[in-house]
Amino acid sequence: MKAKNVLITGASSGIGRETVRYFAARGWKVAATMRNPQQAGDLIDIPGVAIYHLDVTQPHNVEETIEKAWSDMKGIDVVVNNAGYGALGIFEGASDEQVIRQMDTNLLGTIRVTRVVLPLMRQKKKGTIINISSIAGRMGLPLYSLYHASKFAVEGLTESLFYELRPFNIKVRLIEPGPIKTEFNGRSKDDILPPDDDRYIAISQKVTSFYHKTFRHAAQPKVVSRTIYRAATAKNRRLRFPAGYQAKLFLLTYRILPGSWFRWVTRFLINI
Ligand SMILES: NC(=O)c1ccc[n+]([C@@H]2O[C@H](COP(=O)([O-])OP(=O)(O)OC[C@H]3O[C@@H](n4cnc5c(N)ncnc54)[C@H](OP(=O)(O)O)[C@@H]3O)[C@@H](O)[C@H]2O)c1
Repeated sequence: MKAKNVLITGASSGIGRETVRYFAARGWKVAATMRNPQQAGDLIDIPGVAIYHLDVTQPHNVEETIEKAWSDMKGIDVVVNNAGYGALGIFEGASDEQVIRQMDTNLLGTIRVTRVVLPLMRQKKKGTIINISSIAGRMGLPLYSLYHASKFAVEGLTESLFYELRPFNIKVRLIEPGPIKTEFNGRSKDDILPPDDDRYIAISQKVTSFYHKTFRHAAQPKVVSRTIYRAATAKNRRLRFPAGYQAKLFLLTYRILPGSWFRWVTRFLINI
């Protein structure tokens, strides 16, 4: 297929960074956007890659950067809303700031970027918006309540846009990775301190240790980049793309088991 132009948010690390390489290696022009362009590192040396400053929580910055990238590349065919992170911990322990930042980045960030790019794509009568959701956008697991809330919202937003944008030949896609080896479970994680209650502390320890074990078997970010590329180039209107074998396994189990069984198995595995 003919190479095109793509804009990616959160390109400084993990899935975003790998996706910049993946598209550039296939001849695409890539607007690699990040909130701290000093983290671009060797991305600046890749032919076809241009680095832009974009913090998805800053509305003016979102508007200016997308308009600049649109004009520099003479259009954007695909936008990948990737910037995001997870707040991890007991819901009751979260501060107002932690709640707001989680939604501001994962949900409002996606909404802001989409709102700026949509009128431009609508004029061109084509485009694809790819939102990086997660299996966390399909099922709720302990300690990730805020993250789940943000990703369930991204799923609902995207599914609704599917219908609205169809007449304009604008495709929307959801990418649903399982655990992936990135900074997600490292420096990006926002730890929520548990309230002072032994039962919360016990749950918290068991669940975090379960997640640590799960992340040891996490897939490489390239698995997700490959899926994003497939979603960007697919001719059909498919909405959801699970990424990685763990995601497929989780989603299949979630679909076939009655809800009460799934929750029993989850409690059994975590021992809570
Ligand atoms: N890793 C997983 O297991 C997994 C599974 C399912 C879904 N996901 C989703 O995949 C996406 C990418 O995460 P990742 O796994 O690649 O983790 P990552 O390595 O931590 O990358 C997250 C990226 O988001 C950026 N970011 C955070 N806040 C931002 C803001 N306000 N404006 C712009 N960029 C911002 C980070 O920038 P800085 O470098 O400046 O912090 C970083 O580039 C996220 O949406 C995440 O929810 C991850």
